[in-house]
Amino acid sequence: MIRPANPVTCAVWWADPALAGPAALPALLDERERERHARYRMAADRDRYAAAHALARLVCAREAGCAPQEVAFTLHCGHCDRPEPHGKPRPAGPAQGLELSITHSGARVAVAVARGAAVGVDVEQVREGRDIEGLADYALTGAERTALDAVPAAGRTAGFFTYWSRKEALLKATGEGLSGGLASVAVSGPADDPAVLAWDSPGAPEHVWLGDLDAGPDHRAALAVLTGAPVDVVEHDATELLTTVPGQHV
Ligand SMILES: CC(C)(COP(=O)(O)OP(=O)(O)OC[C@H]1O[C@@H](n2cnc3c(N)ncnc32)[C@H](O)[C@@H]1OP(=O)(O)O)[C@@H](O)C(=O)NCCC(=O)NCCS
Ligand SMILES: [Zn+2]
Repeated sequence: MIRPANPVTCAVWWADPALAGPAALPALLDERERERHARYRMAADRDRYAAAHALARLVCAREAGCAPQEVAFTLHCGHCDRPEPHGKPRPAGPAQGLELSITHSGARVAVAVARGAAVGVDVEQVREGRDIEGLADYALTGAERTALDAVPAAGRTAGFFTYWSRKEALLKATGEGLSGGLASVAVSGPADDPAVLAWDSPGAPEHVWLGDLDAGPDHRAALAVLTGAPVDVVEHDATELLTTVPGQHV
């Protein structure tokens, strides 16, 4: 008898970036993160960044059973030779071994963590008025483009961001990011259950699980887990975690 593989549990923590404003969250960032945080000119971008990175540290600390100040992140690109650290974050210190992905857009911040399988999470604010035609040329395959053109105009922008979030969650799980090319992976359309249809890239994994997440009104979100096993997604509201932070420096 073939036994089903043990499921991979992936926790997804959701937060409102407004929590970053008055709270002690920027104090939870490490030096590199604080430098980047200070470079944002728009308060909304700054708050999304602070909430996302503080939440990542708090979630990893909770999983690892250590203090948030002990959690470090190393960044891995592997696709270019830009000297400064960038790319997929990997927990280090007591949180080493956890798989992590971070995303922030509009009014939503999310952090996904798992053990034993790489994860990628992506949330996108549905912004009407963006140059969807131009973005679709860049991000979609010919067949996806044709399918999107058939979506009634009122749902086309949201449909585009469903495609985008599914593709980017996959590319964030592998660590390729946009350098992998959004058009290199073909996914099912907004009217269909999330699925990978084809993936033409040297970084394409053997097994992948893809699901949509409910990010609330005007947002689309997806989660990818690089495993052939079933995936249990456990979603959490991070408000309490973010609002009971002691205001200490890392
Ligand atoms: C970063 C990226 C993967 C996602 O971008 P996005 O949808 O605008 O933003 P999201 O909020 O969903 O995700 C951003 C987070 O993904 C993580 N990330 C960055 N690069 C990543 C990668 N290659 N793989 C997985 N995760 C990555 C970081 O934690 C980042 O958080 P930060 O920007 O607050 O530091 C995409 O913009 C990208 O690939 N950019 C790199 C383009 C580039 O500069 N290429 C040249 C150097 S490789
Ligand atoms: Zn790079």
